Amino acid sequence: MTSDPVRLGVAGLGRAFMLTLPAFQADPRVRLVAAAAPREESRTAFEAEFGGTGHATVEALAADPQVEAIYVATPHQMHADHVIASLEGGKHVLVDKPISVSIEDADRMVAASRKTGCHLIVGPSHSFDAPVALARQMIESGEFGNLRMVQAFNYTDFLYRPRRPEELRTEEGGGVLFSQGIHQIDMVRLLCGGQASQVFAMTGAWDPERPTEGAYSALVNFEGGAFATLTYSGYAHFDSDIWMDNIGELGAAKNAADYGRARAALVGLDADSEARLKTTRTFGQGALPAHATRHEHFGPVIALCDRADLRLTPGGVEVFGDTERRFVEAPVGPVPRKEVVDALFDAVRLDRAPAQTGAWGLASLEVCHAILTSAESGTPVALTRQCGPT
Ligand SMILES: NC(=O)c1ccc[n+]([C@@H]2O[C@H](COP(=O)([O-])OP(=O)(O)OC[C@H]3O[C@@H](n4cnc5c(N)ncnc54)[C@H](O)[C@@H]3O)[C@@H](O)[C@H]2O)c1
Repeated sequence: MTSDPVRLGVAGLGRAFMLTLPAFQADPRVRLVAAAAPREESRTAFEAEFGGTGHATVEALAADPQVEAIYVATPHQMHADHVIASLEGGKHVLVDKPISVSIEDADRMVAASRKTGCHLIVGPSHSFDAPVALARQMIESGEFGNLRMVQAFNYTDFLYRPRRPEELRTEEGGGVLFSQGIHQIDMVRLLCGGQASQVFAMTGAWDPERPTEGAYSALVNFEGGAFATLTYSGYAHFDSDIWMDNIGELGAAKNAADYGRARAALVGLDADSEARLKTTRTFGQGALPAHATRHEHFGPVIALCDRADLRLTPGGVEVFGDTERRFVEAPVGPVPRKEVVDALFDAVRLDRAPAQTGAWGLASLEVCHAILTSAESGTPVALTRQCGPT
């Protein structure tokens, strides 16, 4: 029946699953029925909490007839194999961002989705956040004239959160571009219509102990004439959430006493101890995220149109018009990421694709690579794989 909950399997019970779990638990449109995890403790913890089946491999999960759709939340470099196995098992797929590390892998994933007729959704990314969707609607309504320019920036301590070694190696998808830049690119592409044409960028790899890109600034132009600047630093001491009403990325109020905690926790740790510290944030070991009172966000974003400038906030969009200033609220639900469940449910039950399809995820990944290539070459990079939202 079209109102039946989607029977969802999960591949990878790590940090990403912990962050999306509250949305699955709060929403009657989803039922967690199975998971795949290499560690037995995780499988047992999953079965104890949800009563489904814990499989040792993604292939077994993909063959489970109880499962209709699979959330792939394994590390980036495994996405292609896990997504293709799931699609070939006849399951719809929600794969966490980025779609993959290489464009070739993303191409194979998009082809597998087309061949099997199963939906491929790339998310959650912050392009799903309600204030982004609201700003997009406002821009598309034409009320404020043409969109001319978007500025997105974010200063975090991302590079000093606990990492596995490959998360600090760019060629394996490490650094801020594939994990963080992809959020900003997805948001900005959605606001600007998706069809980016060219990127000019610089990157920074400033800490020899963590030898990957931790910062970038990029100038991107779009078909239709708008251009955008995207700036991110994962080395920051200044925290740009101060400019987001002191609400953190996950929608919860920030506690001033947590200042400096990420760097302090790494002091004296070798790579193995750091990787172990990361697992303390996963399912069966870590706590769920703090209660969110506002929407998730990815730092300050301002969209400038002919007759108004739109500032995205964790509560909605502040409109600075010619003669009036007003706030348009995006109503906050009981937990974040409802929009991701909307996308999953609509795809599986109504055969309706969201903006963030596989082809969309591939186009955002192309911008990530273009930022790295432009920074290395010192020249602008033309984009050839872009698309608009469906
Ligand atoms: N959207 C978000 O807010 C968000 C947040 C964090 C991570 N992510 C994304 O989620 C993905 C995972 O990142 P993470 O930080 O959760 O990593 P993580 O290491 O915390 O979790 C990955 C999980 O995958 C499991 N795994 C490894 N190999 C597996 C296999 N063969 N089969 C099944 N499970 C396997 C690991 O045991 C681990 O539990 C990344 O692509 C990352 O970009 C998204």
